[in-house]
Amino acid sequence: MSRHLYPPRVVNIADLRRLAKRRLPTVVFDYLDGGAEDEVTLQQNCRAFRDVTFRPRLAVFFEECDLRTRVLDREIALPLLLAPVGYSRMMHPGGEVAAAAAAGAAGTGYILSTISGYRLEDVKAATSGPAWYQLYLLGGREAAEQSLERARAAGFSALVLTVDTAASGMRERDWRNGMSELLGGSMISKLPYLPNLLGHPRWLTPFLLDGGMPGLHNVIIPGKGPMPLTDVASALKRSVVTWGDLRWIREHWAGPIVIKGILTGDDARRALDHGAAAIVVSNHGGRQLDGVAATIRVLPEIVAAVGGQIEVLMDSGIRRGSDVVKALCLGARAVLIGRAYAYGMAAAGEAGIRRALEILREDLERTMRLLGCGDVKALDSSYVDIRDERGWPTASS
Ligand code: FNR
Repeated sequence: MSRHLYPPRVVNIADLRRLAKRRLPTVVFDYLDGGAEDEVTLQQNCRAFRDVTFRPRLAVFFEECDLRTRVLDREIALPLLLAPVGYSRMMHPGGEVAAAAAAGAAGTGYILSTISGYRLEDVKAATSGPAWYQLYLLGGREAAEQSLERARAAGFSALVLTVDTAASGMRERDWRNGMSELLGGSMISKLPYLPNLLGHPRWLTPFLLDGGMPGLHNVIIPGKGPMPLTDVASALKRSVVTWGDLRWIREHWAGPIVIKGILTGDDARRALDHGAAAIVVSNHGGRQLDGVAATIRVLPEIVAAVGGQIEVLMDSGIRRGSDVVKALCLGARAVLIGRAYAYGMAAAGEAGIRRALEILREDLERTMRLLGCGDVKALDSSYVDIRDERGWPTASS
């Protein structure tokens, strides 16, 4: 990435967050950055990684550090994939196409959200890496069946079902900032928010040149065309995915299914019983039910519950390569990153996402060398302790 654009000032993901905050109007930045209600889970997601401490093996040397792993039978160059992030094209005109391209360039996978401003065919064409499609039942079953057929034909290799959205999380920042007015309100209802939008010309100009708020080109309402973004909030309320839907989805998707949003061993086993090929231990980055545990805390229970019968991925709170290493030590095959790349996208489009991935790749390799482990596939719980808030090892570690 253009190091001259971000000289030494962008050394970590927090630096990209700072640049994103500067470029975006408050309503868009807070949509990306914020969480549900008191944001307790949002904060815990990151903080809980501090309670996992390393047990390095010192004075060992290896020429190469192997960061490759296999997810759903496909090799990826790094043990992380790019999570589905809705409304990406609102953050930067490059949006989902830029994210897919950057993931491919880094040798890893991209998961496209249903809430996408680009056609899924164009997103798939932009990447050389694996692409998965994340399905919300917006627009009902008929619209979903159509998108599944399109995703299959375009070459998406797995379907991700997000199961933690029985209702939209209460993201209070969005209500205060006028998110629903930005998405669809009248000109008059937008008025109070205009000064802030106008104060961010580096976002506003490209946004307007890109045509403003895009439609959902992957949710085609029969007889009507792409669903407008304005309808998403109400459609999400009617689009809960239940275990009962899996049989119907299976009839329309022959490839692997990944269940995203698992937080207990019981639900992990349920996903296994329903034929999932993988699960994502996720609390949606603290955006849904506030008060659920940080995912790194529930990961060991879930890994134990499935006993190696399906692949366990995890997300929520990953901001550093060392977070990825800790998750792998506790049994994740790989992680998903959401905000960590979306901050880069919001700051500088594809170049920003590439920088985010480069930072995480360098972090990962350095952490592995300092830990004395030359292969991410060899990480296990012997490399970590889990400590309580006073820093003492817990009984389970
Ligand atoms: C998301 N996430 C998400 N998940 C999903 O299944 N479909 C979606 O459309 C979205 N949209 C979305 C938008 C934004 C702005 C964010 C930040 C997140 C959740 C996402 O896939 C992932 O689970 C979290 O982002 C992981 O947490 P971190 O990495 O952001 O802390």
